[in-house]
Amino acid sequence: MDKAYVTFKIPRKGLDLLSEGYRVEINPLEKPVSRKWLLEHGQNYSAFITMLHDTIDQEVLDVMKGHVKIIANYAVGYNNIDIEHAARCGITVTNTPDVLTNATAEIAFALMLSVMRRIVEGDRYVREGLFEMWKPELLLGEETAGKTVGILGMGRIGRSFAKKCFGFDMKILYHNRNRLAPEDEVATHAKYVDFETLLAESDVISIHLPLTPQTKHLFTLETFQKMKRSAFLINTGRGPVIKENDLLKALKTGLIKGAGLDVYEAEPKVTEGLLELSQTVLLPHIGSGSVKARETMSEMVARAALDVLRGKTPEHMVAGP
Ligand code: GLV
Ligand code: GLV
Repeated sequence: MDKAYVTFKIPRKGLDLLSEGYRVEINPLEKPVSRKWLLEHGQNYSAFITMLHDTIDQEVLDVMKGHVKIIANYAVGYNNIDIEHAARCGITVTNTPDVLTNATAEIAFALMLSVMRRIVEGDRYVREGLFEMWKPELLLGEETAGKTVGILGMGRIGRSFAKKCFGFDMKILYHNRNRLAPEDEVATHAKYVDFETLLAESDVISIHLPLTPQTKHLFTLETFQKMKRSAFLINTGRGPVIKENDLLKALKTGLIKGAGLDVYEAEPKVTEGLLELSQTVLLPHIGSGSVKARETMSEMVARAALDVLRGKTPEHMVAGP
């Protein structure tokens, strides 16, 4: 029987499904498999279910070549895999789009409201026993209604986020590599602008970009200087889009007002100074972390692996022989 390796325990549904075609082995540890392990054992399986923290580069792929037929990444993003090289090695790579679109857009929205209305600060205030009386000017925040939101990256998640913003009476700008079709602009109520305009006019900017050489360090001190001093930055895309040390400087010197982050430049490490600021809300990469999304993702990776086993082209293929 073909063997499948799952590099971190995923919801049961997918594991059960996977075992319909494979002998399934799961990393028993509460930590990522090491690179050394991948290099030593990569050739022993015909399918891998991988996580964002697994770096599948040329060297690892060369070990897998001729043995592994599919790498099903348990994520929509796949910047952890060298997909061009995977294709050259005859390995199919799949991802899990769509099912996590709403979940991730909701987390972006929750971060926006939390940072603007100071939800987390308020919670801490109560827990620390500081709530002694109602005060006219206690923890005043900013309303989203009437504000301009700038959406960077108008894929599925960006568009889902736009819909939520429209419901909250925000004015919506977006910038994307490709402009949306007119009917999609109408459906999302979003106006296309160039990057500079988005920076200059937005009260909140939300990042929904994949990580590529072009998007890495898109936000540096220079970028923050072009934003409103009253602006908030939300990132649920990929951490390295922001140069995190520069974000810290921008927040400390008042170049921008606050930030809500779900992803970090060197995850799981967080630039220390960010932890000390009250105007940041920090989450541990839980964008797709709804029960529904994560369960469906587990079924999707299993189905992709079974498809390849049965000689079918899987639905969400991002690279293949
Ligand atoms: C999560 O960050 C994903 O890419 O699914
Ligand atoms: C990801 O699914 C995106 O298109 O934003």
